[in-house]
Amino acid sequence: MRLPHVLVFDSGVGGLSVSRNIHAAIPAARLTYIADTACFPYGSQPEALIIERCLELILRSLAETPADVIVIACNTASTVALPRLREATEIPVVGVVPAIKPAAALSRNRRIGLLATPATIRRPYIDQLIDAFAADCVLTRIGHPELVRWIEDDVAGLALPEQALSEALDPFREADVDTVVLGCTHYPLIQRRLQVLLPDVTFWVDSGEAIARRAVYLLDAAGFDAGLKTSDGRVWEAVRFSGAMPEGMGRYLAHLGLPAETLVSNWPEPPVAGASLTARG
Ligand code: DGL
Repeated sequence: MRLPHVLVFDSGVGGLSVSRNIHAAIPAARLTYIADTACFPYGSQPEALIIERCLELILRSLAETPADVIVIACNTASTVALPRLREATEIPVVGVVPAIKPAAALSRNRRIGLLATPATIRRPYIDQLIDAFAADCVLTRIGHPELVRWIEDDVAGLALPEQALSEALDPFREADVDTVVLGCTHYPLIQRRLQVLLPDVTFWVDSGEAIARRAVYLLDAAGFDAGLKTSDGRVWEAVRFSGAMPEGMGRYLAHLGLPAETLVSNWPEPPVAGASLTARG
């Protein structure tokens, strides 16, 4: 029986938090990871470039390594690139949005904090999510400009600037939030440290489990026994970085419970430019 293949895409290591959820839900699935580290962070890139990069890298990867489901494990890329990607491939594509709906279902004091990148907190869809699912809650938003980079550096063993991070979280303390939405896929990778900095927060919510559930649903619909729990222990089909790979990546993946045999940096060679956006996966 052919194993299901899931392609996970992010600007950096954040999609590994989602990969962890997918692997836990479908241990038999083989994952391919693409980190567009050559263009990291996406929050400071023009939308047209993000769309071009996502399409080019994903279509190239599909040509080398077919997939049954594509997961855009990046809030920034999901908002801008999903429609074009869905036009370019018949493979089902799952995107990610901050988990405001589940947070509103959990919060007891109706005070919710949204921790995301500056690009994500100013997207109009955040207001739409709040209006639709959390209209009776007070939402405090922190758009942190550096945290994604700190987390990439953390992989390489550079200490997280805990003091600066703690100060940046002050608005959540002042607002007395009981629930925090991790609105960037990088953030669950440091959730335990955030919990230490904000001990009064009761609920921590991210989108990883919901994405994994959606991937299971789509694989079931495609005829796979996605609930298959048996695994040969191998997680990855391929792990690809378009630019530099954080040092210590192999160790970090093992620490996440996602060990990889081979890691590829500077993929593809030569640097990508002028993608054909018409190919179908
Ligand atoms: N992990 C990405 C996200 O969820 C990071 C964003 C960025 O590269 O700016 O949005």
